[in-house]
Amino acid sequence: MTVPEPMADEFDTMPLWTADAVAEVGPDAAVPAACRGSGTPAALRWLAGGMGLGEGIRLLDSGAGVGGPSELVARELGVSPVLVDPMVGACRAAGRLFGRPVAAAAGERLPFGADCFDAAWSLGVLCTVPDKPPVLAELRRVVRRDSPVGFLVFVRARRTLPQRPEGNHFPDLEELTVLLDGAGLPIVDRAPLADFPEPPGPWQHLVDRVEAVVERDHGRDERFRSAQQQQESIGRLLADGLVTGHLVVCRAD
Ligand SMILES: C[S@@+](CC[C@H](N)C(=O)[O-])C[C@H]1O[C@@H](n2cnc3c(N)ncnc32)[C@H](O)[C@@H]1O
Repeated sequence: MTVPEPMADEFDTMPLWTADAVAEVGPDAAVPAACRGSGTPAALRWLAGGMGLGEGIRLLDSGAGVGGPSELVARELGVSPVLVDPMVGACRAAGRLFGRPVAAAAGERLPFGADCFDAAWSLGVLCTVPDKPPVLAELRRVVRRDSPVGFLVFVRARRTLPQRPEGNHFPDLEELTVLLDGAGLPIVDRAPLADFPEPPGPWQHLVDRVEAVVERDHGRDERFRSAQQQQESIGRLLADGLVTGHLVVCRAD
């Protein structure tokens, strides 16, 4: 799979550096550091509650990155996650940190048969995918009818944005609704990410410590600067309210 260079830096190289840094900071840092862009634990708990996740539920995480969100619900709710991400670096990092089943594959071609999951989610992924219907069709295919499918999607508040971070393709809310309906995943509940509190102090402190180690070890590396620019560019759009995060619960029809 070919992806723009800044995205490879952010989603392939950074995860491995993050896993190295967690080894130094300590195991408590693993879940906070591995929630890459998926935001706050409170938001994830709301999404998990809306989806009815619980003990023994087989959850597919498409575009799992380093796997922090799935690990959170595995530890708190007893969910059994399976992680998929096209970036081999992210898969290796997730495997090292959490030891859950993980496959390197694109969301457009999931390596599973039909109807084999009880639930699926895809967090912060749709906005990085130019052609969204194939990713949604695959999510619908691998879950059983009536299964919950959750999303965190960053949507644009206006037609044109002053800058678009490379590799990002933000839908607007109406486009998102139409796309989900068309995929057989009608929305049953949703909430703006802004409604949820920031991560608690100790969680953020662990994230900051891991980021400081990564910067100490790689701050002069061109790939570090590229990944950082990419994150800052998205951060500016969010701070200006031009792009907003939305949690969405769908049910496979
Ligand atoms: C912002 S990160 C979110 C990672 C993780 N879901 C989280 O919330 O911590 C976006 C992820 O989407 C993955 N991704 C990009 N294109 C994808 C595709 N076509 N199918 C599945 N995942 C993709 C990236 O490799 C990256 O790990």
